[in-house]
Amino acid sequence: MTPRPDAIRGATITGTGMYVPERKLTNADLERMVDTSDEWIVERTGIHERRIAAPEQASSDLALIACQRALSAAGLSADQVDCIVVATTTPDRILPSCACTLQQKLGATRAVAFDMFAACTGFVFGLSIGRSMIAARTVDTVLVVGVETLSRIVDYTDRNTCVLFGDGAGAVVLQPCAEGEGLLAIDIHSDGELGGVLEVPSGVSANPPSAATVAAREHFIRMQGKKLFPFAVRTMTESLRRCMEQAGVSAEEVEMVISHQANLRIIDAVRERLGVTPDKVPVNIDRYGNTSSASIPISLDELVREGRVKPGDLIGFCAFGGGATWGASIIRWTMARQMPADGVPASGKRFAATGQRA
Ligand code: ACO
Repeated sequence: MTPRPDAIRGATITGTGMYVPERKLTNADLERMVDTSDEWIVERTGIHERRIAAPEQASSDLALIACQRALSAAGLSADQVDCIVVATTTPDRILPSCACTLQQKLGATRAVAFDMFAACTGFVFGLSIGRSMIAARTVDTVLVVGVETLSRIVDYTDRNTCVLFGDGAGAVVLQPCAEGEGLLAIDIHSDGELGGVLEVPSGVSANPPSAATVAAREHFIRMQGKKLFPFAVRTMTESLRRCMEQAGVSAEEVEMVISHQANLRIIDAVRERLGVTPDKVPVNIDRYGNTSSASIPISLDELVREGRVKPGDLIGFCAFGGGATWGASIIRWTMARQMPADGVPASGKRFAATGQRA
């Protein structure tokens, strides 16, 4: 039956892809760089290693491979993409946008492309933008990309932050679907009062780069981790609960909760508050660290390629990040299992569940 032209269209994920750089930075490597230990890092964060982009790789290069994989999984070519939303804190440069550079590299000649800054919540914000544009019939096919080369803004003399972050990219294709399928609920928030908790003090208009700002290392991330911890647990739990309410589903009905991978203890605390069993909350922070806006789409793609996500499953996403920003979403999965040509998951590894120390 042809839908009424004014009917609200749903949006669903029809393809996923991810890419992480080859180079691993292990806890043993960090022990040689700052005053830290493998024991401290694993106990406090759950991280064993993270990936670091090669010098010649910019964010758009990581995003390109993730997008090509997502388009291939969706059975689409780049010229069928109408819109590219890139969620990132580390674009290639301020001008042009990372999304326009990606559009050119991808050959997505018809697509409108733009960057969106919401730190680690960027992917969830991107889903919201994509869903709204599809619902309004502005576009049909949207690439939502989360990509970071955080290693370029991490101070590898600061043990408070350098052990946490990694590089990577994840992408999904969003396309129209019937109402009641696909993205059922999205909840997004910001609170600028908390801006100072996670910041890069200089580099653009408020404090332009100069020899003095570089000498003061103000072009690197600064973080008050202790303040972020309870905020992260509270906001991700509340936001996902709101989505469940909007979608009219209970925590027991949700098959999987894919949380932003910032700290294993944060993920565990959110899971406990939601009353969800560990097998439903996959963890890959041990292998990738915190890849900010890329962490949810990277996790999702790995799970899809492992065959852990089946049509009809209810999947929750939740994230928090600098700004501050936070949000969540619930999707009823519609995509049949897709494997790459070689039949091997992109990461070649299986997930741990929360509650299990890797
Ligand atoms: N190695 C060894 N010791 C360290 C290290 C390290 N890498 N980092 C900090 N310490 C020390 C501190 O200096 C402190 O020492 P002190 O007591 O002598 O002052 C001690 O360890 C304890 O530090 P805390 O800050 O209390 O450690 P905590 O248990 O809170 O863990 C952490 C710190 C991991 C940063 C935690 O607070 C956290 O994960 N917070 C959330 C951070 C986060 O999610 N950031 C990203 C959010 S947004 C986004 O994803 C971009």
